[in-house]
Amino acid sequence: MKAVRVRNLSFSYNGVDILRDVSFEVEEGEFIAVLGPNGAGKSTLLKCISGIVECNGVEIFEKPRQSYSREELARLIAYVPQKSIPSFMTVFDTVLLGRKPHMGLTPTENDLKTVRDVLEILGLKRFALKRTNQLSGGELQKVVIARALAQEPKILLMDEPTNNLDLKSQLEVMKIAERFADNGGTSIVVMHDVNLALRFAKRFIFMKEGKIKADGNFRIVKPDLFEEIYGVTVEIERVNGIPVVVPLETVRPDDV
Ligand SMILES: Nc1ncnc2c1ncn2[C@@H]1O[C@H](COP(=O)(O)OP(=O)(O)OP(=O)(O)O)[C@@H](O)[C@H]1O
Ligand SMILES: [Mg+2]
Repeated sequence: MKAVRVRNLSFSYNGVDILRDVSFEVEEGEFIAVLGPNGAGKSTLLKCISGIVECNGVEIFEKPRQSYSREELARLIAYVPQKSIPSFMTVFDTVLLGRKPHMGLTPTENDLKTVRDVLEILGLKRFALKRTNQLSGGELQKVVIARALAQEPKILLMDEPTNNLDLKSQLEVMKIAERFADNGGTSIVVMHDVNLALRFAKRFIFMKEGKIKADGNFRIVKPDLFEEIYGVTVEIERVNGIPVVVPLETVRPDDV
């Protein structure tokens, strides 16, 4: 079953083209990293898939995204934005919001247990009663990821989820995305750290100027690609069989 199909998606803000004829298909159980320069359209692509911005050309489980109600979509897709805004709500209540698409008026014991479980997974238990506007940047980022997991979606879209996180937490979040896909979910994660992506994701989509320039497994990760996408010369080494990209210098500084 195809979890996501994006077909000839073009999108513009105020007449300015942001995504140009983007097409790709994602099978259930895939873990994809989306990479590319600032302004390439990565966040816009996630917003189109999730329905935060209106667009044609997106199918979720082989039906047009528009054919689902907001509630139905919220049971299928969780979205972690690039920037999160804290509030006066506690961590517990914020994560409980993730249960809303599944919940009646009041949470059941199962809803509360799900919240407790994800707080445990992300090491947030001791913050449960703290307001989110009293958290550090990384703590807040984990709360937003916890809320997405509490949603128990089929598709997990995360936009630079490792921002603000320490090294150990970065690995934990990537493992969460990996486990989510191993258990039959679909993870699509926008990220800049190509080496972290190579360590965990199975497929890589490189975007530039609103277009997909490369899409495939780690074999597409070659020095020429980094010249083309970023204008940066790199060497690719292998550590324990995993490619590691080492930037050498910025070529074409005029392009920056
Ligand atoms: N609400 C908006 N209105 C107008 N233009 C926008 C809006 N949001 C984004 N853009 C523009 O769309 C382009 C793509 O933005 P997007 O946020 O998708 O890039 P990105 O690949 O996620 O970049 P980054 O790596 O910096 O997060 C940028 O040129 C940006 O200025
Ligand atoms: Mg972005």
